Amino acid sequence: AGTIEIAPSVLSSDFANLASETRVIDEAGSKIVHLDIMDGHFVPNITFGAPIIKWLRKYSDLCFDAHLMISEPDRYAEDFKNAGCDHITFHIETVDDPAGLINRIHDMGMSAGVCIKPKTPVSSIEKVAKMCEMILVMTVEPGFGGQSFMDDAARKCIDIRKMAGPDIRIEVDGGIDVGTACKVASYGADTLVAGSAVFNRPDRAAAMKAILDDAAK
Ligand code: DX5
Ligand code: ZN
Repeated sequence: AGTIEIAPSVLSSDFANLASETRVIDEAGSKIVHLDIMDGHFVPNITFGAPIIKWLRKYSDLCFDAHLMISEPDRYAEDFKNAGCDHITFHIETVDDPAGLINRIHDMGMSAGVCIKPKTPVSSIEKVAKMCEMILVMTVEPGFGGQSFMDDAARKCIDIRKMAGPDIRIEVDGGIDVGTACKVASYGADTLVAGSAVFNRPDRAAAMKAILDDAAK
């Protein structure tokens, strides 16, 4: 596992002030902003898409980590590239040819990730794990911020780390805060998405530091 990084999710931020919300996490030392794209089809909620990201790109140099919770991610990958995303993670549950999509994402010059929902087994990503730069393990059912952390789902990081080796990044998403960050770090995760734990607090920098300190325990 690499150095532990936080990837704040703007899902729980003020969408009408996305540029300033993103600047706050940048100034607090984050290198990444996690962008949750929901289509109301793969998940029962709708957020924002490539046009909003394209605008945000003008205001931020952070690494744009797009988490596509959408059906047919292959159909939209190029839009997210053109909007300025650096990384695309898609759900293994949404594609027939994950290797093909990973290759396309790489050909477009982005890094690639696959994501598994809490009930999706690790075996589903076995064939493609080593092709990716990152594997995303959902520790809540995707769709909403502010849900409770699922430890059984998080423990899949242990098997993924064995399967994919030390160099791949393992990202966890859902219910990460002080108290769960230390658990996921012990399971081998090194990229910690945090939405409500950062943006529902008045002092975002302090919240981010508390999570990283917990992970370092
Ligand atoms: C949920 C999203 C998450 C979400 C996490 O479907 O993928 O990235 O923002 O929110 P918290 O950290 O509040 O659980
Ligand atoms: Zn996410």
